[in-house]
Amino acid sequence: MPSLAIIGAQWGDEGKGKITDYLDEQADLIVRFQGGNNAGHTIIVDGKTFKLHGLPSGVVRPGKLAVIGNGVVVNLEELGDEINHVIANGGSVDGLRISDRAHLIMNYHKKLDGAEEKYRGKNVVGTTKKGIGPAYQDKIARIGFRAGDLLEDDLLDDKIAFILPYKKDMLDLMEAEPCSCTVESLLDKMRGWRDMVGRYICDTSVLVNDALDQGKNVIFEGAQGAMLDIDHGTYPYVTSSATCGGGICTGSGVAPNRIDGVLGVIKAYTTRVGEGPFVTELSGEEELALQHKGGEFGVTTGRGRRCGWLDLVVCEHASRMCGFTSMGITKIDVLNDTPDLPVCVAYEIDGEEVKHFPASIAKLNRAKPVYEHFKGWNGWRPEDTMSVVKAGYDNLPGEMREYIEFVEKYLKVPADIISLGPDRDETIDRRGDWWN
Ligand code: GDP
Ligand code: IMO
Ligand code: MG
Repeated sequence: MPSLAIIGAQWGDEGKGKITDYLDEQADLIVRFQGGNNAGHTIIVDGKTFKLHGLPSGVVRPGKLAVIGNGVVVNLEELGDEINHVIANGGSVDGLRISDRAHLIMNYHKKLDGAEEKYRGKNVVGTTKKGIGPAYQDKIARIGFRAGDLLEDDLLDDKIAFILPYKKDMLDLMEAEPCSCTVESLLDKMRGWRDMVGRYICDTSVLVNDALDQGKNVIFEGAQGAMLDIDHGTYPYVTSSATCGGGICTGSGVAPNRIDGVLGVIKAYTTRVGEGPFVTELSGEEELALQHKGGEFGVTTGRGRRCGWLDLVVCEHASRMCGFTSMGITKIDVLNDTPDLPVCVAYEIDGEEVKHFPASIAKLNRAKPVYEHFKGWNGWRPEDTMSVVKAGYDNLPGEMREYIEFVEKYLKVPADIISLGPDRDETIDRRGDWWN
């Protein structure tokens, strides 16, 4: 199996970064296909922490190609800081490649993101304010800058001359913070970006397809999660990209028949950052306790994540939209020493039991979770995690295995990876060989 996609099954922050990094060892290319630096992927190797936003996780492992696909929106100013962070931590970005078709996030996109949120009033989405929505809007409106434009001075000059006044008028109209740059200063800034990353820009679709033709191992690294998908998520409380299965193809320039497997990453409970429906959300002290136990604070914005019980109606929707062939269950160690573990298996909406995640936000706001209850297990001290990992799946507490096996049965997908801690090594891999 030369290609594997890794996609979050909930509202992001499932631990995709950790799982992708774990599997990267045997991959030759790691490809990000959507989103931008709204993502925050944490990778911990031997106690050293990398927090990646725009860079694919592959940069952490020497000798890999880390590809930013055409479906990604890239903030080159902030990517420069991230490159420095990786280098300062002993990593390298020699393997970085950026699609010439990837769109750029400009400063005015960030300003417009903030202004749009103000207009939404009580309907605020709670975006990361990274300019993601406005950058994708410009892509669809055919007024975006692409990474490849940086390599063509005349084209760049021409585009800036018509796009900049347009965006300045938009900022005025929205009463957003004005943009002080001129055509000349923006051209200068973009030439600086070309000096920084020009050598990494290429046709990454050719690169990825050639690698697949040669039998190399390719990982497609998802950002966000299925429930934040622009079509299939809790619209309008979503991000602006295609986070589910289809996004892999459009966002990296590969055909559907080149995706050999899809690993869904499922956190053993549920979290969400920002606004929008969340049927199994806890409240008060109970929510704060889980937030604290799981360290649930955003990597990108530092916001406290909303927390609740595992919702299999959500996971079934994600599995259907992404085609999960495997699951990685993460943060199950956080549930250690919790006597009662509710798992949501259906919603009750207007007196009816519903098994499939509805599109309507109004319905979701009226939905009540139908729970099955599982007995918790007595956990171990964090310093004993590695001995638990070494003892293997069959020696995990019986109640924990019951919880995992219920999820497998409900979703009809094997839980091939069980993650018991944030470090790369704190992982039980029940499959072992991912590439045949
Ligand atoms: P991502 O956006 O899906 O990559 O996830 P984040 O990095 O935003 O959030 C996941 C958090 O949980 C990070 O702080 C990880 O270091 C941590 N983490 C990942 N897997 C595990 C796990 O199995 N157990 C525990 N306790 N923490 C984990
Ligand atoms: P990773 O890859 C969790 C959420 C924001 C907001 C909504 C729209 O780390 O899992 P945007 O800035 O994208 O327009 O915000 O999406 N969001 C995330 N939540 N993890 C993420 O990424 C997210 N990226 C965006 O909080 O609710
Ligand atoms: Mg994250």
